Amino acid sequence: MVLQLLRQALPIHSAPTRILPHYNNVPAYLLPAFLTSSIPNHQQSLLHSSHLQSLKYFTTSTSTMADSKSFFSAVESRRTIYQLSHESPIPDARIKEIVTFALKHTPSSFNSQTSRVVLVLKKKHQELWDAIAEVYKAMLPEDKFNQAKQRFDGFRAGYGTVLFYEDTTNVREFQEKFPTYEDKFPQWSEHTSGMLQYVIWTALEAEGMGVNLQHYNPPIDPRLEKEYGVPPTWSLKSQMVFGKPTGGPMEKTFKPIEERMKVFE
Ligand SMILES: Cc1cc2nc3c(=O)[nH]c(=O)nc-3n(C[C@H](O)[C@H](O)[C@H](O)COP(=O)(O)O)c2cc1C
Repeated sequence: MVLQLLRQALPIHSAPTRILPHYNNVPAYLLPAFLTSSIPNHQQSLLHSSHLQSLKYFTTSTSTMADSKSFFSAVESRRTIYQLSHESPIPDARIKEIVTFALKHTPSSFNSQTSRVVLVLKKKHQELWDAIAEVYKAMLPEDKFNQAKQRFDGFRAGYGTVLFYEDTTNVREFQEKFPTYEDKFPQWSEHTSGMLQYVIWTALEAEGMGVNLQHYNPPIDPRLEKEYGVPPTWSLKSQMVFGKPTGGPMEKTFKPIEERMKVFE
């Protein structure tokens, strides 16, 4: 549906070769399939070759991100999946590769690279959700905790969690270096974290993983600092739970796009 809308909205689909110059610096694997499919083969390899260096980092012997899905298809397929099992559709090495790649290539203001992650897998993932449950047990009345516990058990049933942090010392450095933007850097740190979370969420799901995003910080922060040796200056933003999906996403409705977008031409 999104692809159809894009095809209608973008005149480029009718004359893809004409727009190619605009995409000279765009890796072919990021272009929507309807663009690359009409690019002659020799030009596709040209697009690829200029990015081979960076792709190498993300390439395994069997696949690249380019093979997984076209960009827009991956964007549309990213959903919140709560029903997860303690298995993974891809090897741990691939999970690490995705997180590493996203961490390296997600943009940040002034290239400040303020994001940090802790990747927790398998038994460690179960221990993480046991620890989170313990923290909330000490905070909540029994009936409220019993409700929360069902959710914690659901997350514990998954395969892994990515903990997203922003390094506030790093943010402060940039505030001092560029005082004109002092008040902006904390916001931009949140923005880059959101982008990183989105890249990892979308990439994991493009590889068959189910993913959901949780926010049990800040009560869990001190416990996780101790558990993972995280500096107290790292600020926890979210917990992204993933595993093999055992159920689908919930139904999703969309506001009319006209209420959300203005175009002037
Ligand atoms: C910034 C942000 C915060 C979110 N926080 C939570 C959360 O704390 N718990 C949760 O279950 N889902 C959370 N979600 C998931 C949203 O509820 C979900 O993305 C939204 O309903 C759209 O559904 P979809 O992800 O299937 O497209 C969050 C999503 C975003 C983007």
